[in-house]
Amino acid sequence: MIPPSLFNQTRLLNVSSLRFIRDRSGVAYFSSSSFNLDSNIDSLKNKARAPHAHNNTPESIVSKIGRNLHRQPDHPLNIVKQRIEDYCQSYAMKKYKKIKTNENSCESDSNTIKFQIFDDMSPIVTKKRCFDDLLVKPDHVSRSPSDTYYLNDELLMRTHTSAHQTELISRGVNLFLCSGDCYRRDEIDSSHYPVFHQMEGVKIFHESELVPNDEERSNAIIEEDLKELLTGLAVHLFGKVEMKWSADYFPFTDPSFELEVNFRDQWLEVLGCGVIEPQVIFNAGREGSKGWAFGLGLERLAMILFQIPDIRLFWTDDKRFHNQFVGLSKDHQKLVTFVPYSKYPLCYKDVSFWLPSAGGNPSVSTYHSNDFYEVIRDVAGDLVEEVQLFDEFTNKKTGRTSHAYRINYRHMDRSLTNAEVDEIQFKLRHELVTRLGVELR
Ligand code: DAH
Repeated sequence: MIPPSLFNQTRLLNVSSLRFIRDRSGVAYFSSSSFNLDSNIDSLKNKARAPHAHNNTPESIVSKIGRNLHRQPDHPLNIVKQRIEDYCQSYAMKKYKKIKTNENSCESDSNTIKFQIFDDMSPIVTKKRCFDDLLVKPDHVSRSPSDTYYLNDELLMRTHTSAHQTELISRGVNLFLCSGDCYRRDEIDSSHYPVFHQMEGVKIFHESELVPNDEERSNAIIEEDLKELLTGLAVHLFGKVEMKWSADYFPFTDPSFELEVNFRDQWLEVLGCGVIEPQVIFNAGREGSKGWAFGLGLERLAMILFQIPDIRLFWTDDKRFHNQFVGLSKDHQKLVTFVPYSKYPLCYKDVSFWLPSAGGNPSVSTYHSNDFYEVIRDVAGDLVEEVQLFDEFTNKKTGRTSHAYRINYRHMDRSLTNAEVDEIQFKLRHELVTRLGVELR
């Protein structure tokens, strides 16, 4: 569901030199000076706009850089982020003792260590950090330009916060939470949006916390700590709920797990995690170290917790949305249920076309549905609620394939007029022909 996991079939989750800062609560934050978003939003946007034959990042995506919803006080994504960070810090205070070395850890008092919090790392990352370092296979679909926004052959918009694992580990950061906006070309429905937010957690263990020369027992210690932390996190977020651990697959962890909780009578996948693959640690230049990692989707958790029905709502400026969350970034106990302030009328339009053929061969097409979704997003923005492919067939004689889509338009904050939607649909049809080379039917 929300947002999709890159690696398993189920839809789970659909820095440079460090500068030390402190927020009002006294929580230690690290941010990277060269990538500090507040001062660099314009240069990041320009970097994303730089023309290149393989730049497939449209202006609608570039414009989201620097919005930082996860850092806006009382934004539901910030509320969830705060709750997770607070819980993890209290776990660390109880559980992790400071090890007497000169390690680069953020010390809260003389005996315990804290998670270092990273929440403003650049969303523009290298292909190496996002995929290669994490052992994502060269032909994995998540790397393809139909799924990922590239700026050029090396740089891309991060598709997950795991993209920061090897960089932070290589800098000697041994316990961290890293959150940020992630970008994926994807389908359109109430739980998918091309920009969403994730949080990554990582702990690298000190050898004194493990059993020397005993891989099995060391891994068991790591797994046990990971599950204890995350089980407690689920209770902190959802209350006393039933939980289920199951085996999962991610290229960068082994073993890998997924946690499901039974909340309001529904089993929901809430996060992915595992013991970090030794090769990933090697890629971070820390051969021989061991640790765990987890990743979760902030939208997904916020939608479940507050019963927010549509992912587009996170981007609205409407006060009727935001007023419902006032004060919650500070009040970590309160559970509010979002009350939809409206359900404005839905307006749907269909469009059908022959897919473009590649190299004169009608049965081969370079067309990908995600290209179509992107044109719609560009033309109609957040007015599109859902797009469904409702008919697909290949003409036996000509070998050409036809797609028919239903597009549901609905404004979240007001009614749309038919004339307004007709105009969008007209423009969309034109763009489909000029940008994708389809033949309208
Ligand atoms: N990056 C994964 C995704 O987007 C989520 C994830 C799974 C992160 C397991 C982790 C992990 O750190 O251990 O689907």
